[in-house]
Amino acid sequence: MKTFKKFNNSFRGKSFISINQFSSKKEVEIIFNTADQMKKIVEKRKVNDLLKKYCIAQLFYQPSTRTFTSFLGAAKWLGALTIPIHGMSEYSSAVKGESLADSIKSIYQTTAADLIILRHPDDDSSEVAAKNSYVPIINAGSGKKEHPTQAILDLFTIRESFKKTDNLKVAMVGDLKNGRTVKSLALLLSLMGKNNKIIFVSPGSLRAPLALLNQLKSSGTDVWETDDLNQVIDKIDCLYVTRIQKEWFAKEEEYQKVAGCYTIDKKLMSRAKKKMIVMHPLPRVNEITEEIDTDPRSFYFEQMRSGLYTRMALLKLILLGNN
Ligand code: NCD
Repeated sequence: MKTFKKFNNSFRGKSFISINQFSSKKEVEIIFNTADQMKKIVEKRKVNDLLKKYCIAQLFYQPSTRTFTSFLGAAKWLGALTIPIHGMSEYSSAVKGESLADSIKSIYQTTAADLIILRHPDDDSSEVAAKNSYVPIINAGSGKKEHPTQAILDLFTIRESFKKTDNLKVAMVGDLKNGRTVKSLALLLSLMGKNNKIIFVSPGSLRAPLALLNQLKSSGTDVWETDDLNQVIDKIDCLYVTRIQKEWFAKEEEYQKVAGCYTIDKKLMSRAKKKMIVMHPLPRVNEITEEIDTDPRSFYFEQMRSGLYTRMALLKLILLGNN
């Protein structure tokens, strides 16, 4: 199913479902430049009323700490009315069998929301929602498929560290089969420059989907795979670590076979470049030891703040347009 619209340099009134909606890096730069302005608003502690007349609903059918709060923070920093709903899977009429399409239509009617932010376990959830919505949908994580706003904040963090988004060697480590953040980020890195090199590091059973590899290769991105992090640690600019996604494993013993397969510790970090950065969408479950938290190359806490700025930018661009 592909119902989403390409951005064509304008975000106004459009749903943000997939990184595939971008046609050029210029469109991503519009978001980054707006995020730079948003950063100033927050740093100067100036709550803005840009979105004062707007109502933003958040419907989360899966757990979330960072995505939920940074969208909520973003809406509030811009003065919007907010309807933040966690626990949709447990407490909404989904329990009684209501379809996602009906829930999306309902929440528009009951709240008069101008925009709906959705996290849902189904891969196609955001597309289904967008197709059935009177207002734009932002994908805040759809199943195992995409997490486009996470990719935007990840790349914004990379841009802040390296002052560039091209010519970088990025290793993505962990559960590349079930994790959604890596898929969106790989597509975004591929869009940003032909000189970005992506190295997928995972156990054989958790490799990135072939369709993703093929899409990256056919757009000219240099991408390769290994299961050995030691082989690449001294060659990369960015180490993007991910959690083994326990919730998607059918059996506990299958999860146990791969749990703890990669651990970022002092020994490994001693072999990395001095300017390398360590990122992680979080939550972490032992894959980065706490001893690394004070290493100046650890960026996974600062990375979260990028979520506030870039999500403020996206809300502004979708609701008000580019100017
Ligand atoms: C991720 C997610 O939900 O996909 N978290 C996030 O949004 N920052 C990663 C994860 O759950 O492992």
